[in-house]
Amino acid sequence: MKLAVINGSTRRGSTWNSMDLIRQELKKYAEVESKEFFLPDAMPHFCAGCFSCFFNGEDKCPHSEAVRSIADAILEADLIILTSPVYALDVSGQMKALLDHLCYMWLSHRPDPKMFNKIGLTVTTTAGAGLRHASKTLRNSLKFWGVKKVFTVKHAVAAAKWSGVPEKNKSRIKKNAEKTAKKIAQAVKNADRLPNPLFRSFMFGMVIRAMKKYDWGERDISHWKAQGWLDGKKPF
Ligand SMILES: Cc1cc2nc3c(=O)[nH]c(=O)nc-3n(C[C@H](O)[C@H](O)[C@H](O)COP(=O)(O)O)c2cc1C
Repeated sequence: MKLAVINGSTRRGSTWNSMDLIRQELKKYAEVESKEFFLPDAMPHFCAGCFSCFFNGEDKCPHSEAVRSIADAILEADLIILTSPVYALDVSGQMKALLDHLCYMWLSHRPDPKMFNKIGLTVTTTAGAGLRHASKTLRNSLKFWGVKKVFTVKHAVAAAKWSGVPEKNKSRIKKNAEKTAKKIAQAVKNADRLPNPLFRSFMFGMVIRAMKKYDWGERDISHWKAQGWLDGKKPF
């Protein structure tokens, strides 16, 4: 099983440990090969808002070198894991900066068919509040990249660091990791047989209608034409 793990922090703290427990559990079900990134080290830039990725191609992004290595790992993976501690009731700024750079591969722009049978996992931890909001931010990107199924793990750890997490919480996190890993292993194994998410089918129909009606970026339209999606070819 190929993993792309993108951590929204450089700390091996509660979030990373919660993710790593799942990764260790996955090894019970399959051979695990992991490509791992820590933000902001792996991609230290903010989106410049230049629209180059949308209009001229993602290779024209001023930060394409850093973005490409992460995007390539995402495209190669069976399981894409996005992790973030909760900062100000949402994901960390460095994670959001990466997600901004990957909007070109949203369903509304140039979704890559390689994404359509992938599984996603979001892992967030907080001292107390903000899990729902932060998870939703991560889930949104995975869904809009077109992945088939997304698992969500979120823990209120009541601590500033992993060593400070009460043992009772740690054992709850460990049990959750065992259950989640089992479900993920099954989903990855049967990914091509899982039902297509309604949201994705709905988005495809909507984008096709919008592209025919409105002035859309030429680069995006060429992508959809090249895939045959504007001529009735089914994407999945
Ligand atoms: C800058 C910053 C902002 C934070 N914002 C919140 C917050 O809004 N709500 C909350 O309950 N905890 C907040 N926390 C606490 C962390 O979410 C929590 O300790 C988390 O488990 C840390 O994860 P880590 O050990 O992986 O770094 C914040 C921590 C930092 C450093």
